[in-house]
Amino acid sequence: QSQRVTAPQIRLRKGGEPIVVLTSYHTHTTRIIDPFVDCILVGDSLGMVMHGMETTLPVTLEMMILQGRAVMRGSSHALVVVDMPFGSYEESPQQAFRNAARILKETRCGAVKLEGGERMAETIRFLTERGVPVMAHVGLTPQSIMALGSFRAQGREEVDWAPIERDAQLVAEAGAFAVVLEAIAEPLAAKISANIPIPTIGIGASPTCDGQVLVLEDMLGLSDRVPKFVKRFGSLGDQIREAVQGYAEAVRDRSFPAAEHTYGMKKK
Ligand code: KIV
Ligand code: NA
Repeated sequence: QSQRVTAPQIRLRKGGEPIVVLTSYHTHTTRIIDPFVDCILVGDSLGMVMHGMETTLPVTLEMMILQGRAVMRGSSHALVVVDMPFGSYEESPQQAFRNAARILKETRCGAVKLEGGERMAETIRFLTERGVPVMAHVGLTPQSIMALGSFRAQGREEVDWAPIERDAQLVAEAGAFAVVLEAIAEPLAAKISANIPIPTIGIGASPTCDGQVLVLEDMLGLSDRVPKFVKRFGSLGDQIREAVQGYAEAVRDRSFPAAEHTYGMKKK
């Protein structure tokens, strides 16, 4: 029935036409972007973007499921991937499966994403063997912010490459259909993309990846502060400011609402 992109189709695009991914959390933005992208990520960045949280750590499974359902209602084409939030999968493969199954059953999305390489490989295998398509996420993993201390690009010295390469290799072997590479130096991203059999989706990881992802609000120019790796393809913040100034003025000088926005009495 459905013409939706599937996780196996994304997997097959290794080395082919670049895979286009954007985040979305809402039905209205999803309706607008769905025709133009291959994959929509309901990222746990929603905690920071929608709720003003300082990190993604407080995001709950319930929040992800609620927005996952909103995004599924707004889309008919793109593969929808929902992030597993901090604390919902790290404890054991069993915990991860229980919560991934809730996400798939309650949102009807096509895949989940979780952070971590080598340490999550066993869990990724457990999920994929049981019918849960998994997108992995290595390099900078924002759910580890408290342990890392700050959001910094990874692999900018060659001595730091080996564990990141190993992370990417092991999530591929464990059955992930794709892997997000976040904030890693270009030569490392290029090497990983050349050496692993699954598509790499870069964010701050150079054009050598098999696809790219950005946070929608960041690329639209709606976020105040954005990382180095963001290009603003729009200036929605300025447009909203202008529109709201116009509205406020019109209300104050009573030019809005005008006759065409006003109900008269029914003609008898
Ligand atoms: O939560 C998110 O938006 C993400 C992407 C930026 C990869 O994980
Ligand atoms: Na995320």
